[in-house]
Amino acid sequence: MQSTHLSPSTLLYEGKAKQLFLTNDPQVLWVHYKDDATAFNGQKFDRLLGKGVLNNLISAQIFNDLADFGIPSHFINRVSDTEQLVSRVEIIPLEVVVRNVVAGSLAKRIGWAEGRRLQEPIVEFYYKNDDLGDPLLTENHIELLELATTHEITDLREQALKINDFLTKRFDKVDLQLIDFKLEFGRQSNGSLILADEISPDTCRLWDRKTNEKMDKDRFRRNLGGLVEAYQEVWNRLDKGKDA
Ligand code: TMP
Ligand code: ASP
Repeated sequence: MQSTHLSPSTLLYEGKAKQLFLTNDPQVLWVHYKDDATAFNGQKFDRLLGKGVLNNLISAQIFNDLADFGIPSHFINRVSDTEQLVSRVEIIPLEVVVRNVVAGSLAKRIGWAEGRRLQEPIVEFYYKNDDLGDPLLTENHIELLELATTHEITDLREQALKINDFLTKRFDKVDLQLIDFKLEFGRQSNGSLILADEISPDTCRLWDRKTNEKMDKDRFRRNLGGLVEAYQEVWNRLDKGKDA
């Protein structure tokens, strides 16, 4: 954790799990990770004490690891248990999902059993639009909506697969299988696309390598209980496996 001369001011945006504040530096935002958990487009809601602290820790660690590996993100540094500073970018309203193993909506969409490993990872794009229920988009839809150019879509796919390669190995070293995950990207003032938002058990599916136990937000979505305990275990393993 680092001290900062910056302080949060106006609330810029409140999402389901985070708040974004402006700071005295126009290029920097202050992120507060909340304990709130939602699923199914906000229809299911709970407050899970300790989730914000753990997601702040986990996301900061992953962003730092990715930076060491040569993949930049909007992350600057963690400033408190539940807060971090990030560079201000224009978020592209796309959820970029990478899948290594069939689960969740892919299992429903194509009728394959959860747990079946894919021969190659696949990338999907969803439209971040609550009114429409975040629908799956084709590349033509993305171009039609002018959310990203053909060139940018290629860039998003390449960055997402590179991040998948790194994260799969990082989690594998601590006995966690990276089943799938969701990324968001932002446009910088020079036009380039950079990884943004968060990477945590809220946005990844992580299964214990030996038992296949779910260690992610599916514990909440599927009423399995023990979410905070599972996130704590993910953090303990990542922290211990830092220099492995
Ligand atoms: P899905 O199987 O429900 O489409 O989810 C794929 C991955 O994306 C999974 O790791 C959970 C993550 N995800 C989010 O982070 N936010 C969301 O709103 C949704 C629907 C999924
Ligand atoms: N966070 C999303 C929502 O509130 C969905 C999810 O992660 O399952 O709908």
